[in-house]
Amino acid sequence: MLEVQRLTKRFGGLVANDAIDLTVGEREIVGLIGPNGAGKTTFFNCITGQLKLDQGRVGFEGRDLTNRAPEVIARAGIARTFQLVRVFREMSVVDNVVVGAFLRERTRQGARARAMQALKATGLSASASTDAGALPVALQKRIELARAVAMEPRLIVLDETLSGLTEAETREAVDVLRGLRVALLVVEHVMEVIMPLSDRVVVLDAGKRIAEGPPAAIARDPRVIEAYLGV
Ligand SMILES: Nc1ncnc2c1ncn2[C@@H]1O[C@H](COP(=O)(O)OP(=O)(O)OP(=O)(O)O)[C@@H](O)[C@H]1O
Ligand SMILES: [Mg+2]
Repeated sequence: MLEVQRLTKRFGGLVANDAIDLTVGEREIVGLIGPNGAGKTTFFNCITGQLKLDQGRVGFEGRDLTNRAPEVIARAGIARTFQLVRVFREMSVVDNVVVGAFLRERTRQGARARAMQALKATGLSASASTDAGALPVALQKRIELARAVAMEPRLIVLDETLSGLTEAETREAVDVLRGLRVALLVVEHVMEVIMPLSDRVVVLDAGKRIAEGPPAAIARDPRVIEAYLGV
């Protein structure tokens, strides 16, 4: 479904992504992990059109989306959340999600109906008319997820949507994500979060892909342990 080949992104002399290959299959949940500065957010920004890649190719369902504009990529079926929460604090939860729903709906009424569906799918229905800024950060992150869901994507890329949650909140979020039944590419640096969620895990370190495999194998991979512990 998503097929990234040899994606390379430089910032001056720094190679933030060095020829990264990565695929995501239909309804597959792929975790992308790595220590701070590994290049995870950069990789996301290249896929979703926020940054231009220097080399490589981004293919999605047979289409070439390399260096296309963010709105073209969103329309093609890839939605994203941001590492730093971007909600309109003074707007209600549902209105925050309506913003995403307008990608597929022309009328306000249609967009609102689609937004309510997205709130239901993400467990936010009860907070629909609350001001977004009044919710705890864990739920503000959920609003971003709902906004992405309202775009009716085939793939959602999530940047640290699960970081900073309590254990109970994490379990709930994992259930919500699994229940969406779309393909997910999930960025985290907390392995405890990514392991129960992912079908497959890809590990970046200092811009390079250093490992890939099922969560259990990744957790005991010496290269991964070394990257995290710096030993
Ligand atoms: N716009 C930019 N200009 C210059 N350097 C950048 C830019 N964005 C990121 N970098 C550098 O690229 C490298 C990768 O950063 P990136 O944000 O992709 O890492 P990350 O894996 O998402 O880290 P974190 O876990 O802290 O979010 C870092 O060394 C970072 O300082
Ligand atoms: Mg990041």
